[in-house]
Amino acid sequence: MRSLLALLGLSVVYAFPQRCPPLPHDIALRNGSTLPDPFTTVRGQRVQSKAQWSCRAKELSALFQEYELGTLPDRPSSLKTSLSANGSGLTITPTVGDRSITYTVNITLPTTGKAPFPAVIAFGAPSIPVPSNIATIVFDNSEFAQQDSLASRGQGLFYDLHGPNATASALTAWAWGVSRIIDALEKTPQVRINPRRLAITGCSRNGKGALVTGAFEPRIALTIPQESGSGGAACWRLSDYQLAHNEITQTASEIVDENVWESVEFRKFANNTDLLPFDHHELAGLVAPRGLIVIDNSDYLWLGPWSSWGCMSAGRLIYEALGVTSNMGYSSIGNHSHCQFPVDRQTPDLYAFYSRFLLDEHVETDVFYNSVDLTFDYSRFVKWKVPRLY
Ligand SMILES: *[C@@H]1O[C@H](CO)[C@@H](O)[C@H](O)[C@H]1NC(C)=O
Ligand SMILES: *[C@@H]1O[C@H](CO)[C@@H](O)[C@H](O)[C@H]1NC(C)=O
Ligand SMILES: *[C@@H]1O[C@H](CO)[C@@H](O)[C@H](O)[C@H]1NC(C)=O
Ligand SMILES: *[C@@H]1O[C@H](CO)[C@@H](O)[C@H](O)[C@H]1NC(C)=O
Ligand SMILES: *[C@@H]1O[C@H](CO)[C@@H](O)[C@H](O)[C@H]1NC(C)=O
Ligand SMILES: *[C@@H]1O[C@H](CO)[C@@H](O)[C@H](O)[C@H]1NC(C)=O
Repeated sequence: MRSLLALLGLSVVYAFPQRCPPLPHDIALRNGSTLPDPFTTVRGQRVQSKAQWSCRAKELSALFQEYELGTLPDRPSSLKTSLSANGSGLTITPTVGDRSITYTVNITLPTTGKAPFPAVIAFGAPSIPVPSNIATIVFDNSEFAQQDSLASRGQGLFYDLHGPNATASALTAWAWGVSRIIDALEKTPQVRINPRRLAITGCSRNGKGALVTGAFEPRIALTIPQESGSGGAACWRLSDYQLAHNEITQTASEIVDENVWESVEFRKFANNTDLLPFDHHELAGLVAPRGLIVIDNSDYLWLGPWSSWGCMSAGRLIYEALGVTSNMGYSSIGNHSHCQFPVDRQTPDLYAFYSRFLLDEHVETDVFYNSVDLTFDYSRFVKWKVPRLY
């Protein structure tokens, strides 16, 4: 069947609605200190096609929700929007059952370009430059799901709506909030933002959220995690490895006692990340084939610069399997403070991705480097082969 469709120049992915095997639950967890194989399902089937990968991606998303990030709720039962008279405040009111919440995002339209405009959605204020022909949308994610300490568990607008016992971690709650911003943009064309040309960004803790949002929300065209470290671009296993080699970096064990970025369930893995049936190279893989540019800071050991470099190097193999290697970039530069984007040196890397994924320009996005000669030994941590997915 496939070969016939291939002869006709059709792909199975587009020929039929996607039917995937039921999602796994209560799988047998196995210890492994190397990075898990993205291309083998929990039932042991090898992924060979893009159609199979899209099912595997659903499986991975379910596993991330079950063991690390908590459940991402469905769409709300209804959603109302209103735009302020000056056009800069978009107010969103989702309803779930008999509960509603209201939040407002701040919109700054670009000074050049043509509507509907592309936009960068930022958690907190944007800490990267945004070109004059791209809008910015500022989302107060910390109000939506608080992130002060462990006492923030279940606190914020998201939990007012879904109940304080919702399993979603703060990062998952923010992703849900971003999805509702996109719903709102889709149904409110007078905002003059193109909901098909959106980026998500945030730095540090908010960078963790940016990567998770890009992984969970397929309508995001470009994902820009900045200096996100553990829980973001770093891999749990690689950060543990760094710590074991006396490099004081943030690990799962530390993070679960610091804040509510991960779910309560994740605590079970904090001292044994080897049992996780995934790692964050696969979180990057969930963003694929869409645009992803990881911005890092090679100076801050706490962020696990080697862990992030290795993790994203492994993650890029998923882009390679899909035949879109250059859709993912990694740019790591030091000599600047945390979340202070070095405009003079890193802007070209970032702007290439804006041009290609938000402005539809044909530019090269062959960006994958760190400025401090970090190396990653694939033979030590990657024990799987990269298929060429048909
Ligand atoms: C995994 O390895 C750790 C450390 O060696 C050990 O304590 C734990 O019991 C193992 N768990 C399983 C399920 O094999
Ligand atoms: C737009 O109007 C809102 C009140 O509706 C106000 O809070 C906000 O400051 C105004 N923004 C600008 C950029 O004028
Ligand atoms: C939006 O702008 C208003 C003032 O215009 C400000 O009070 C509010 O904090 C801003 N919200 C965000 C999410 O930045
Ligand atoms: C949340 O869970 C606690 C502990 O199980 C329970 O006492 C409480 O009633 C639950 N709250 C809601 C709103 O379901
Ligand atoms: C991890 O192990 C440390 C040291 O034994 C312990 O103090 C900590 O409570 C453990 N963390 C979790 C979440 O179990
Ligand atoms: C960082 O800045 C110092 C002083 O300006 C310079 O000597 C050094 O080469 C820079 N290092 C990197 C990696 O750019």
